[in-house]
Amino acid sequence: MTATPRLFIGLSPPDAVRQPLTQVRHHVHTRFGGRVVTTANLHLTLAFLGATPAARTTELVRLIDALAFTPLDLTLDQIGSFDRARVVWIGLSRHQVALDTLVQALRAELRAGQFPTEDHPFNAHVTLLRKATCLTEPVETIHWRADTICLYGSVSTPEGVRYDVLHRRTV
Ligand code: 2AM
Repeated sequence: MTATPRLFIGLSPPDAVRQPLTQVRHHVHTRFGGRVVTTANLHLTLAFLGATPAARTTELVRLIDALAFTPLDLTLDQIGSFDRARVVWIGLSRHQVALDTLVQALRAELRAGQFPTEDHPFNAHVTLLRKATCLTEPVETIHWRADTICLYGSVSTPEGVRYDVLHRRTV
């Protein structure tokens, strides 16, 4: 890990959820092409921090451990894309208040800790493909009891990006 690792905080799906996610990923890849996100890298980003001094990692670990976080029942039921970024994702067709509440609480704690925060509206999604776009449409529902929040470090390797779990909290 570098002195200023690229960090983000996200929800990590259990293997039982990664499996149907890989099926949807296969389905959309067949239809829309692009580059698949590896199974190990699948996650739902809650907050992106970017390059962060390694010395501040301990503060982030404490922040995550102190965050009001209880398991969330997520219903992933629609695919869509961010056309400018050219990413295809699976997301939620219905607004999830508890997820928004978690993100707002996390942003508030990050702001209080003088970490960079995003102001744009939160758009919950799990990226499945890069370098591809598609139209929004329903897919077979995946239920995810999200009980694990992680601090990730994004590492560039010759084989592509890898997201290392630097800290994991399961509730
Ligand atoms: P994603 O959530 O759409 O896949 C690590 O780069 C993770 O942080 C990725 O999952 C990425 O996008 C997310 N992310 C959010 N904002 C980002 C930004 N400004 N730059 C890079 N990645 C960002």
